Amino acid sequence: MRADRDSAAALAALPRALPDGPTDPRAVLDELVADAEPGVTAMGSPRYFGFVIGGTLPAALAADWMATAWDQNAGLASPTPAAAAIEEVAGAWVIDLLGLPGEASFAFVTGCQMAHVTCLAAARHRALAEAGWDVERDGLAGAPRVRVIATAGRHVTVDRALRLLGLGGGCLEPVEADERGAMRPEALERALAGGSGPTIVCAQAGDVNTGAVDPLDAVCDAAGGAGAWVHVDGAFGLWAMASPRRRGELRGCERAQSWATDGHKWLNVPYDCGIAVVADRDAHRAAMAVQASYLQQGEPVREPMDWTPEFSRRARAVPVYAALRSLGRSGVADRFAERLGAEPRLVVVAHGLNQVLVRPVGDDGAADRLVAAVQADGTCYTSPTTWRGARCMRISVSSWRTTEADVDRSVEAIVRALEVARSRG
Ligand SMILES: Cc1ncc(COP(=O)(O)O)c(C=O)c1O
Repeated sequence: MRADRDSAAALAALPRALPDGPTDPRAVLDELVADAEPGVTAMGSPRYFGFVIGGTLPAALAADWMATAWDQNAGLASPTPAAAAIEEVAGAWVIDLLGLPGEASFAFVTGCQMAHVTCLAAARHRALAEAGWDVERDGLAGAPRVRVIATAGRHVTVDRALRLLGLGGGCLEPVEADERGAMRPEALERALAGGSGPTIVCAQAGDVNTGAVDPLDAVCDAAGGAGAWVHVDGAFGLWAMASPRRRGELRGCERAQSWATDGHKWLNVPYDCGIAVVADRDAHRAAMAVQASYLQQGEPVREPMDWTPEFSRRARAVPVYAALRSLGRSGVADRFAERLGAEPRLVVVAHGLNQVLVRPVGDDGAADRLVAAVQADGTCYTSPTTWRGARCMRISVSSWRTTEADVDRSVEAIVRALEVARSRG
C-alpha cells in the first residue's frame, strides 16, 4: 500500500547526472518504472484513506489520458473549440449538480488552492469596487483595508490565497467555532459588528479534520446583513450537495457568493483539478480577464482564460465531463465511525461527511504509533493529524471504489495495528 522507499531512497534510485546524449524513449519509460515505482503509494486503492486523496473513476482516467494525448492548450477557445465546449458543458453540470446559482461563472484550475485564489480575487474586486477602489488598475497600496473573517480551523490554502492576493495574513480576523470546528453564527455576527469596511467571510463545507460544515444558512444571513461576501471552501464537502441525502447538511450553501472545490477529491478525477464557482460573473471576469490582440478572443464564445489565473493549461475539464457521466457512490464513512466506535481501546473524536478522527485511549503519542503500524501493515492507509491539541488518526473516505467489505477489512487491520502500537508504547 504505502511506498517501500522513503524520500532519500527514492532520490538515490534515480540517475543524478543528466545524460549527454539522447536515450531511447522505451528505455526511458522502462527505467522510470523500475526506478520510481517502489517509491509510489497506492493512492487509487479502495483502502487508501490518507489525507483527502480521491481515487479515479475509470472513465475519468481514460478521458484524462485522452486530454494528454490530444495535448490541447485549453486556455483559448478558437484553436480548440471542442476543449472549450467540453469545459462549458462540464462547468454547467458541476453548477447544476451542486445546486449553485445557474448564472454563476466557473473556472477549472489546478486545485482548491487556486480555486480560492480565483474566488477571493473576485471577492477582492467586488469588495474594493464597492468602496470606490479599482484594485486591478491601482493595486493595493493605499486601498481600503479588506477584512477577512474565518475560523482558526480554516484550511491553510485560504491563508496562502490571501497572501498571493496581497491581502496578507494580517487581514484575517478569527471567529469562534464549536467543538467540531463549525463556525458559530452568533460569534460571526459579533465579529461583523466589531468592524467596518470591505469584508469577506470564509466559511467551510467540510473541515479537513472533522468534516464539520459551517451553518451556511446562518452564516449567509449574518454576512448578508453586513454586506459581506461569503466564500465557501468546499474542497471535498461541496460534493455533498450532489447527494439528496446529504444536501440538507449544507443548507444555505447556494446563498454564498463563491465556492471553491476539487475534482480530484470526492469526484474522483485524476490530479490535478480544482473548480472555482462565482455568483458574481462580472467580478470574476474583472479579476481574471486579460486582452491581447493576437489572442483572437471574442464574444459570444466563452474564453476559458478569462476566468482563470493560468494562461496556457491542460484541458482538465475533459475528465470532469467523463466523470460526471459515470459517477460512483460514496458514503461509507459512517460505517468506519460505527465500527471503530465499538472498539473500547479507541475514541472516535469526530466524524462528519467522509472524515473520521480516532485516537487510542491513553497517551498522546499512541495515535502516531497507530498510524505507523497501520501503514506498515499495508492493508489500508491512514494519516495523522492534530485536532484540538491531541494527536489523532484521520480516515478520509474519498474513493468511489471503497466498499463496506473494504471498511471491514480495514477496521480489522486497524485493530491489529492497535496491538502493535500498544506493544511499542
Ligand atoms: C478543506 C480543504 N480546503 C482546501 C484544500 C486544498 O485543496 P488542494 O490540495 O486541491 O489545493 C484541502 C485539501 O485537502 C481541503 O481539505
